[in-house]
Amino acid sequence: MLAIRSVSAPMRRQCVRAAPRVAATLSFQNRRFYSDKVAKFTGQKDASGNFPVSIIEGDGIGPEISQAVKDIFAAAKAPVSWEPVDVTPTLVDGKTSIPPATIESIERNKVALKGPLATPIGKGHVSLNLTLRRTFNLFANLRPCRSVAGYKTPYDGVDTVLIRENTEGEYSGIEHVVVDGVVQSIKLITREASERVLRFAFQHATEIGRKKVRVVHKATIMKMSDGLFLNVAKDVAKDFPHIEFDAELLDNTCLKMVTDPLPYNDKVLVMPNLYGDILSDMCAGLIGGLGLTPSGNIGDQCSIFEAVHGSAPDIAGQGKANPTALLLSSMMMLRHMGLNEYADRIERAAFDTLAEGKALTGDLGGKASTTDYAQAIISRL
Ligand SMILES: NC(=O)c1ccc[n+]([C@@H]2O[C@H](COP(=O)([O-])OP(=O)(O)OC[C@H]3O[C@@H](n4cnc5c(N)ncnc54)[C@H](O)[C@@H]3O)[C@@H](O)[C@H]2O)c1
Repeated sequence: MLAIRSVSAPMRRQCVRAAPRVAATLSFQNRRFYSDKVAKFTGQKDASGNFPVSIIEGDGIGPEISQAVKDIFAAAKAPVSWEPVDVTPTLVDGKTSIPPATIESIERNKVALKGPLATPIGKGHVSLNLTLRRTFNLFANLRPCRSVAGYKTPYDGVDTVLIRENTEGEYSGIEHVVVDGVVQSIKLITREASERVLRFAFQHATEIGRKKVRVVHKATIMKMSDGLFLNVAKDVAKDFPHIEFDAELLDNTCLKMVTDPLPYNDKVLVMPNLYGDILSDMCAGLIGGLGLTPSGNIGDQCSIFEAVHGSAPDIAGQGKANPTALLLSSMMMLRHMGLNEYADRIERAAFDTLAEGKALTGDLGGKASTTDYAQAIISRL
């Protein structure tokens, strides 16, 4: 038996049996789960007037790029005090867990910045990235991809914003052997998780001044699961009359985006888990790869911001790492915390440094060290 997570008999029946079509189209006007803004930052300043932020420096290049971000924040006088936390995993009742003190710190501060964490392949503990998402119910993965002046890619002016459902869908972990040679993997879509991420997408579009939200789906094939996601989107859209809402099939989106990404610059895209995982990496490719791509894992209680890249063990400890992706993730974090003016100032200094091209790290074709690059940004603040 290959079951990763077992499902109760009633749930299994509910998933496998063809439910009446009406279930997917039911209006839920009187059954709203979220009446207020989802994922609102509720952290409080400490006695010194700073917001405490938990920081997981991570493995490999993590400590080097975290130090660069901390130096830049200190130079910009950003009102943040860092609280380092340890995520060395332990097994509790056979499940990978992170230390209670770390959970307590992130729950208290409501926000964390995270460096990359190495995941053992084919053995050892469950991915700590997945453990963090599950521990804090980080339901939306927000990934903006913006072209960086000074780093030439096939397309100029790319500016996509993609939101991926982060807790269920194809990543629900419900798999089992039906009979030898036949396995079944269940894609679980719930109205609650769909509404939560869709509502966040409409709110985020409003906050960043985008007038269009587009759902990316395959409801032509997965009529019930993607159909539910799409129908919830249509209902949530009624609460945001100032936002234009439409939908597009995933294959069509991929084709159009790689042909010409610019028509997507005025939209927020939102989609179920697996589609978001793949499409967001494709968007990262459009702007020059993972080294420049930030992300935010958004939850109702806490949110964790991190670079999309991994721990880069091949260059760890050599002062060669590019801290841009973690720095841009920390800009998303500052905006989530309402500290927009600091984010704008630091981001401008970073983009100007990249555009000038004099202090670029090796991955962008330069010779600067992590520290040289951070100092070049600091000199512009
Ligand atoms: N979110 C995360 O914590 C996360 C994400 C991806 C991978 N990982 C883990 O990281 C480890 C290494 O994974 P990988 O080698 O497949 O991918 P990686 O992203 O660490 O590295 C891929 C390539 O990109 C380069 N690179 C990555 N980030 C860079 C940066 N900031 N500056 C300059 N060059 C950079 C590396 O040197 C390497 O050549 C694995 O254990 C993996 O599980 C963690």
